[in-house]
Amino acid sequence: MTASALIGLQWGDEGKGKMVDILAADADLVVRCQGGSNAGHTVEVGGEKSVLHLVPSGILAPEVRCLIGHGVVLDAEQLLKEIETLEARGVQVAGRLFVSDRAHLVFPVHRALDQAQESKRAKGKIGTTGKGIGPAYEDKVARCGIRVGDLMRGQDLEGRITRTLDAKRPRLESLGCSVPAVAEMRSFAEEMGRRLAPYVVDGVEVVHAARRAGERIFLEGAQGSLLDIDLGTYPFVTSSNANIGGLLSGSGLPANAVGRVVGVSKAYTTRVGSGPFPTELEDATGNRLRERGNEFGSTTGRPRRCGWFDGPAARFACAVNGVTDIALTKVDVMSGFEKIGFAVAYEGPDGQRSESVPGSVEEYAAKRPVYEWLAGWEGDLGGARREADLPASLLDYIRAVEDYCHARVRWIGVGPGREHIVDRGEA
Ligand code: IMP
Repeated sequence: MTASALIGLQWGDEGKGKMVDILAADADLVVRCQGGSNAGHTVEVGGEKSVLHLVPSGILAPEVRCLIGHGVVLDAEQLLKEIETLEARGVQVAGRLFVSDRAHLVFPVHRALDQAQESKRAKGKIGTTGKGIGPAYEDKVARCGIRVGDLMRGQDLEGRITRTLDAKRPRLESLGCSVPAVAEMRSFAEEMGRRLAPYVVDGVEVVHAARRAGERIFLEGAQGSLLDIDLGTYPFVTSSNANIGGLLSGSGLPANAVGRVVGVSKAYTTRVGSGPFPTELEDATGNRLRERGNEFGSTTGRPRRCGWFDGPAARFACAVNGVTDIALTKVDVMSGFEKIGFAVAYEGPDGQRSESVPGSVEEYAAKRPVYEWLAGWEGDLGGARREADLPASLLDYIRAVEDYCHARVRWIGVGPGREHIVDRGEA
């Protein structure tokens, strides 16, 4: 059985959570592979809304097992809170949720550093979520991080804590952050270790046992391709690989295990935080998309920047991820526009046109979009369940996305609920 992967094709918030809800129900094992509590997925459990940041949303499908893979940086306190909330609402978590012993931990000191660094950046604020993601990945790469397994085995925990604090001490002090005492951090880590213990596994073994058993594995991506540390709009990116490569390395699955790569994109574009965004609309149209699409961050509540669909950016994301199927979400939000902008190229200050996403953030920021104007559609699409229920101009728009991105649009999101989806079936 081949595995499937799900990736964001824009700057995050593409509606991946809803697609995971739909697609993970057919999986045996759902794996979160990268990022951390910077991700946010609003779910309805027991009639109440909650936001899951770390627990894969597959947990809501009763037969599905979920793994937080080693590519994730894990805020243990946050995870334990989510587990409590889920259990209080009747979701069975024990025995269904597993955490890789190789995953690195996010400590309060990482959150403090993230927030202090961000507030000290005069110009060039990244607009991070303040969840400590960057500093935790820094420790991982600098080889002074602490992993979940280190809490289980208790091996030289004090030495590890001393080394990780020593590596950060000068920066913490220069930012005016207090440096935690080793003993204090140790007792916190030990408590987290005790509480996490029932969930901790060898994640690579879990993934490969599932593969050997012919189970259906689903890799759940977080953030989006344009926020990828290598392929995104660096430095206005997150600190993990949000592309297919990150999902493989963060789960331990080999490339040839993945048969389907679902790319999720909104029918328009949004971005939270700073960085280039060529199709951004800082006008009434942008406000209308934000209000109608309820475009406010689920992790930080920040208003999202909104704009038209960016063809070159979406095509770039489809290409680097080898997307086999697109899920185009929130087409209902665009109902009622007479004309809809679809960026088919960029134009630089010298008037040169291009269709590629430049590596230089300065060059990208200077680009202006070149639009093709397509006819809009009208009406409440919430009841559409089949292609035949969709207006002809929306079908033309979908064809334009397919032609431009060289990938088939299989799913079309027509509203916020799980049921608000048109599935065009296998090609
Ligand atoms: P960090 O991941 O908190 O370091 O934030 C880096 C950048 O990625 C900021 O612009 C954030 O707004 C953005 N970001 C991180 N996670 C998400 C997400 O799940 N959705 C959308 N943007 C995100």
